[in-house]
Amino acid sequence: MTDSSSAPPARPAPAGQAMWGGRFSGKPAELMQAINVSIGFDRRLADQDLAGSSAHAAMLRKTGVISSEDEAAIQSGLATITAEINAGTFPFREEFEDIHMNVEARLRELIGPAAGRLHTARSRNDQVALDFRMWVREACDRTGSQIRSLQITLLAKAELHADAVMPGFTHLQPAQPVTFGHHLMAYVEMFGRDASRFADARVRMNESPLGAAALAGSPFPIDRDMTATALGFGRPTANSLDSVADRDFALEALAAATICATHLSRLAEEIVIWMTPQFGFIRLSDAFTTGSSIMPQKKNPDAAELVRAKVGRLLGSFTQLTVVMKGLPLTYSKDMQEDKVPTFEAFDALELSLAAMAGMIADLEPDHDRMAVAAGAGYSTATDLADWLVRTLNMPFRDAHHITGAAVKRAEALGVNLPDLPLVELQTLDARITQAVYDVLTPEASVASRTSYGGTAPAQVLAQIKRWKDTLA
Ligand code: ARG
Repeated sequence: MTDSSSAPPARPAPAGQAMWGGRFSGKPAELMQAINVSIGFDRRLADQDLAGSSAHAAMLRKTGVISSEDEAAIQSGLATITAEINAGTFPFREEFEDIHMNVEARLRELIGPAAGRLHTARSRNDQVALDFRMWVREACDRTGSQIRSLQITLLAKAELHADAVMPGFTHLQPAQPVTFGHHLMAYVEMFGRDASRFADARVRMNESPLGAAALAGSPFPIDRDMTATALGFGRPTANSLDSVADRDFALEALAAATICATHLSRLAEEIVIWMTPQFGFIRLSDAFTTGSSIMPQKKNPDAAELVRAKVGRLLGSFTQLTVVMKGLPLTYSKDMQEDKVPTFEAFDALELSLAAMAGMIADLEPDHDRMAVAAGAGYSTATDLADWLVRTLNMPFRDAHHITGAAVKRAEALGVNLPDLPLVELQTLDARITQAVYDVLTPEASVASRTSYGGTAPAQVLAQIKRWKDTLA
């Protein structure tokens, strides 16, 4: 029942019998077919399957395993099938189980017995490993370029608002003022690492399993380098068992996808928070909000909420495939057919999320006034006061921290913010404090002072924006 690379198909399968039905006399139960069939989802591998078959046929001809006439017939049949698939007229049929046998069955209808030679020196085991690997490789490339677009969108927004002060938070409590541009640039860094994870995974997965055949390799004089090169791989895989049994390329891509979705989820959550009337830091247009069916005043950030939630699907897919693979003995088992749906779903969700996030980032408009007011609230420049005491009075930081705490307490009692605390009040804490201290107590001054590499000073933010623009150009 397993595909054998060395057994040339002698006769077409009799009507009503599966392609592998030579040793079978009965037909499978309907339930057997129901649980076995995968064409409903693996039809998404059609392009990869056709490309793989075309490269395989060319290699079989070049190595003398099949004749030029047979190869020509196979290539023209594959071209017809490609056209049918593109036109939406290809007959996907459940009775042929999966994409591989659907293509082969159609090829036989189109070109006759020569179709039976295509599967020489090949098995569905290396075929599916190849198709799926190519699909995941393309998904990594698509995702990588989507991440790049999102980064470019973030960069443009960050540049526009490189000096717009806003509160920086820890524990979601106002901590120190930062700029909106700096905050957005934090995500440019995260997405940059995400893109590099996909790129790394791509390098590792870029080996062709074609030619491993069922599991042990092939007795035919095949040229695995030739098919690997034709299909854009760096080299053929080096162990035939590993070739058909491994799915860690998909796991690695799903792990990268889950991490990326986690970053998207955090940014989405911030959009939700910033959009609340209580914060009022940003506005999203009607393009990315929805109304309520009962409360006419509402504008809800549904797209952001859905991006926030999608990571559940992504982690679900990663978990699903990990559990499928865990404990499977080498080599191929049908369990592995369950690799596709979670992977397809994960990348569908991630690609939609990346696109929606890029749309929202382009769409959002920050409210500089609201952010500036919030940036000054909550004694957010207390650290600047402490730093001033250290720098100007040569005070140990611990003492400065203590005195600043007392200043905050006094400001709280008087119901004022730090920049409005009278000098006499500060001088009761330390007589050496002068009027000059007020220069560091505004959010703008605080932000401008943080010129250390990677800090929030607008000049630093603009330098990082420039670096990223050069990198992404
Ligand atoms: N549809 C199968 C899958 O997705 C193809 C490989 C079948 N191989 C086999 N030995 N039954 O895994």
